[in-house]
Amino acid sequence: MTPTATESFAPWRDRSEASRNRWTVTATRPVSYDVALCDGILDPANPALLRAVPRGVPPTARRLLVIDSEVHRHYGRSFTDYFERHSIPSATCVLDCDETTKHWGNVRTVLQALDRFGIDRRNEPIVAAGGGVLLDVVGFAGSLYRRGTPVVRVPTTLIGLVDAGIGVKTGVNFDEHKNRIGTYHAADRVVLDPAFLRTVDRRHLSNGLAEILKMALIGDRRLFDLLDWHGAGLLAAKFQRDGRHREAATEVLERSIGGMLDELQPNLWESSLERVVDYGHSFSPTLEMRALPELLHGEAVSIDMALSTLLAEARGLVTATERSRVLRLMRALELPISHPLCTSELLISALGDTTRHRGGRQRLPLPVGIGAARFVDDVDERELEVAGESLAELAKNG
Ligand SMILES: NC(=O)c1ccc[n+]([C@@H]2O[C@H](COP(=O)([O-])OP(=O)(O)OC[C@H]3O[C@@H](n4cnc5c(N)ncnc54)[C@H](O)[C@@H]3O)[C@@H](O)[C@H]2O)c1
Repeated sequence: MTPTATESFAPWRDRSEASRNRWTVTATRPVSYDVALCDGILDPANPALLRAVPRGVPPTARRLLVIDSEVHRHYGRSFTDYFERHSIPSATCVLDCDETTKHWGNVRTVLQALDRFGIDRRNEPIVAAGGGVLLDVVGFAGSLYRRGTPVVRVPTTLIGLVDAGIGVKTGVNFDEHKNRIGTYHAADRVVLDPAFLRTVDRRHLSNGLAEILKMALIGDRRLFDLLDWHGAGLLAAKFQRDGRHREAATEVLERSIGGMLDELQPNLWESSLERVVDYGHSFSPTLEMRALPELLHGEAVSIDMALSTLLAEARGLVTATERSRVLRLMRALELPISHPLCTSELLISALGDTTRHRGGRQRLPLPVGIGAARFVDDVDERELEVAGESLAELAKNG
């Protein structure tokens, strides 16, 4: 007998006795987003920003631009001119951003702006333009508002370009804890334009170089050599792709962005807790928050990497020559290798906190030579104490 429409849409009617009071729900949701490295995205003739809308949405859809106040000062007019030239109705929400403002209050400000704008969460993207702090705050707000509003990310700092802007993690600080609340919310598009780096100050560029150095140390020996040869020059030239360092800037950016995406893609939701990209992020969250606002994110990461290099050396994973090369490069990139707050008490407490968040095991990535890494689970308090003291000594002796 041919089933009636009601029967064919009601398979639950035929469930067997054993499975009538037990259910399993399984669903998968594909994630796909484009990350494009381009030049001159604020030039009205450049279609990159125009096309940066969710699939199926017309390029002229309204935009809510949420922008870091410094970025607004330098480029706000160019963003609005761009939208006007393409007849795109837009509104702007300006946020003051640094690590001390990376909290719920700023998320709330964005949520209120979304409400005021009356955003159509299926057809009107938020355009987030700023550094890691703004991208984390707006990504978090976007993931909460109506359970998910599309975000186009336009990173404007080096950390944003090579790290904070290209993955799916969002988060803000909570009760003195770094990134303690957050979500996974993939951007619809990511548009990377190194021209924004022209106005980033030297210390913040150096800060971004720490995340690039991380990618080099754990998996890309060629990237390490490029930083060794051109790092100081790239810092001085602000990574611009039009001068003497053009080729090096392009290769360093492409290798670090590509390397990061290769690492993130197979483990987007971090179901595996062994992530080499956590290198430099085991002790640094506690250090960064305790030293706030003195240490920037990448600076805390650099100190963590220096300490991990010494732990690796003591275990015979890194030679003394390799360790000197690594520390020398950190100095050339104007990154710190130690901090007075880096006591054994802090290191022990930081590793305890990290271990709790890594499923009860340290899963501590340590370098193996330059360009490879392995995980260890058995670093003890004495090792931390010795490494901390050696690092302070090395820092003192320049
Ligand atoms: N979600 C992630 O996966 C991820 C990854 C890495 C880092 N992060 C987060 O990123 C944050 C650090 O990001 P950041 O270093 O970009 O800091 P930031 O966002 O605080 O920006 C640094 C400073 O530069 C200014 N600025 C931004 N763009 C500018 C420009 N083009 N010209 C002039 N000034 C500009 C900002 O106003 C700010 O004062 C940390 O909170 C870290 O936790 C997140």
